Amino acid sequence: MENRNLWRQFSEEQTPFYLYDLNVLRNVLSEATKWSNRFGYKLHYAMKANANPELLQIINDFGLGADCVSGNEVLHAIDMGFGSENIVFAGVGKTDQEIRLALNAGIFAFNVESCQELEVINELAGEMKKTARVALRVNPDVNPYTHEYISTGQSRNKFGIPYAELEDTLAKLKGHSNLEFIGLHFHIGSQITQMGVFRELCERVNIIQDEVERMGFDIPHLNMGGGLGIDYDNEKIEMPDFRGYFSVFNETLNKRPGQTIHFEPGRSIVAACGTLITKVLYVKENPADAYVIVDAGMTELIRPALYQSYHPIVNLNGANSQRFYAVAGPICESSDFFTKKILLPRVERGNLLAIKQVGAYGEVMSSRYNLRSAVKRFHVDIETLINEDQLIAGIAAN
Ligand code: LLP
Repeated sequence: MENRNLWRQFSEEQTPFYLYDLNVLRNVLSEATKWSNRFGYKLHYAMKANANPELLQIINDFGLGADCVSGNEVLHAIDMGFGSENIVFAGVGKTDQEIRLALNAGIFAFNVESCQELEVINELAGEMKKTARVALRVNPDVNPYTHEYISTGQSRNKFGIPYAELEDTLAKLKGHSNLEFIGLHFHIGSQITQMGVFRELCERVNIIQDEVERMGFDIPHLNMGGGLGIDYDNEKIEMPDFRGYFSVFNETLNKRPGQTIHFEPGRSIVAACGTLITKVLYVKENPADAYVIVDAGMTELIRPALYQSYHPIVNLNGANSQRFYAVAGPICESSDFFTKKILLPRVERGNLLAIKQVGAYGEVMSSRYNLRSAVKRFHVDIETLINEDQLIAGIAAN
């Protein structure tokens, strides 16, 4: 479709809405798979980051498997054409129903997070006369230097089997005849921007592997989880550093002959392709701040309220002069803001703002609080990352 028509179409749409650029997604996937293939690594997309069918279709076309955290995600992955042999299932609270469903589907592996879960899977698999493939998710106690709500691999976190309990768990596993041990799983957190964190993870995993082998287990599969962060401070979309990321594992991890190394990226795959377009309703002069009140809120994008995160904001109707604003939504909560201070071209009622890099954990975490309407989404398919900027500028110009 010609860009001019696209612009007309979107400028008439009622805000707020998510706008996904599928070609940005393809560019990111090309880069991710280029580097993972170079090292022979297998990728499972973490569907929790964004489960939109239009995106999953493309992700599946690129040959990624699916990392799921609920029975519904497993079903959705299968519906979307992901082969069950490419589906892994993590989560600290798998219900009996979800375990049965995944056993029926014949998924590749359960990433098991406790000794008790292991017993339950063994029992349910026995009842169904099946063998469950299991990987043990071990909590390696590594500090990911990220927001505490998205740290998952420190000893105080609820995730994974504590290292101190690994020996006991493995001993029990030997007695569970309906389980096949296929390896180890790790995931230490999200939005990790320091490569040294992944290096430390590898060093811990090297020790844990030795320990597990000493207990008489082969480890055909190692799943190193997701976590690669993106640069949210940058208005211009940058390609995540997949080369640097995978190189750390290639250099540091003691890979065994014939072993398959898996990863579960979510954010790094889909963050860049999504933008939230919102309209300015009011500009309020409060004693402390000038508030821009927009028609999107924490119901459409909860990350700033939940993790004090920032997403680049662009005034698509930008005037020349600039001033500082707080940008907030319409929801009846004081945490409903996108930023407390940003320098923007002077804002007026009716201006459109683009909130960028929101493809991951954006729409998928939206809610109907305050009985808001479900947020809409549109897709475009244009040539390059740069054109994506032109497109959103075009929406404003029309
Ligand atoms: N694997 C497992 C087992 C996970 O729990 C997660 C994310 C991932 C992979 C993918 O991690 P990623 O590559 O996306 O960092 N809602 C939060 C993020 C929660 C992440 C939870 N686990 C946010 O908006 O920042």
